[in-house]
Amino acid sequence: MERPPDPNTVPGPAHPGLPAHIAIIMDGNGRWARRRHLPRSAGHRAGVQAIRPVTEECDRQGVHVLTLYAFSTENWSRPRSEVDALMDLFVETIDRELEELDGEGIQLRFLGHREELSEKLRATVRMAESRTAGNTNGILNIALNYGGRSEIVAAVRELAESGVDLRQLDEATLSRALYTGGLPDPDLIIRTAGEQRVSNFLLWQAAYAELWVTDTLWPDFGGDQLGRAIADFGARERKFGAVHGPGEARPVVPPLATRTG
Ligand code: FPP
Repeated sequence: MERPPDPNTVPGPAHPGLPAHIAIIMDGNGRWARRRHLPRSAGHRAGVQAIRPVTEECDRQGVHVLTLYAFSTENWSRPRSEVDALMDLFVETIDRELEELDGEGIQLRFLGHREELSEKLRATVRMAESRTAGNTNGILNIALNYGGRSEIVAAVRELAESGVDLRQLDEATLSRALYTGGLPDPDLIIRTAGEQRVSNFLLWQAAYAELWVTDTLWPDFGGDQLGRAIADFGARERKFGAVHGPGEARPVVPPLATRTG
């Protein structure tokens, strides 16, 4: 399990009502293209354009960790031409955006199995991670060939191989062994294009995440919609499994050890 370098410390959210970590399932590129009688690859290209306004809104609001679901372990079953176009798009986008992201102090991290990626893409990913590893203004995780179940299995195997007694395994140890080890769990998971599914995304880390689904297709999602999702999040009451109506005690800290990294 090749994993990103240990995450650098980034500031927490700018105020307590903000999510520390937002994760997005970017869905609907294909539908966006079909409505315009364009090839699916054009939808993915438009999807790339939609990322910048979202990172800018995160920065403006003071959200410092963002995770984007770019390619799942299940996406290999798409037509070969689409998969190839996506892989080329990943290399091209990382190469193009790296300098600016680095200049903004963003740490780029890639979550997922690297073994199946082309040597070129693996080298690009490695280079982007090592160039930005010292940055501390924010973290952009790209989930690439990522699957939540296989992440958990790989982490448990790795712990067993490193000699950890699995009979003593606890939540904090497993959390640290995931690709996101050392990062706060996502507080808010957004899915575009209307489907109300988790699709094997951050299964462990999503335990207490708030979900926000919109019918908007990913290429049309922008900073304004993200702002709406964040405002909705701020208005929600998070219970972390406890009961707290008026007059009842609120939990002082979320129960998961993962929150402290
Ligand atoms: C889902 O839409 C989208 C994807 C599988 C690919 C998302 C990838 C990008 C936006 C590029 C990101 C690039 C980097 C470097 C982060 P879909 O094709 O399933 O849409 P549909 O459900 O309408 O067919």
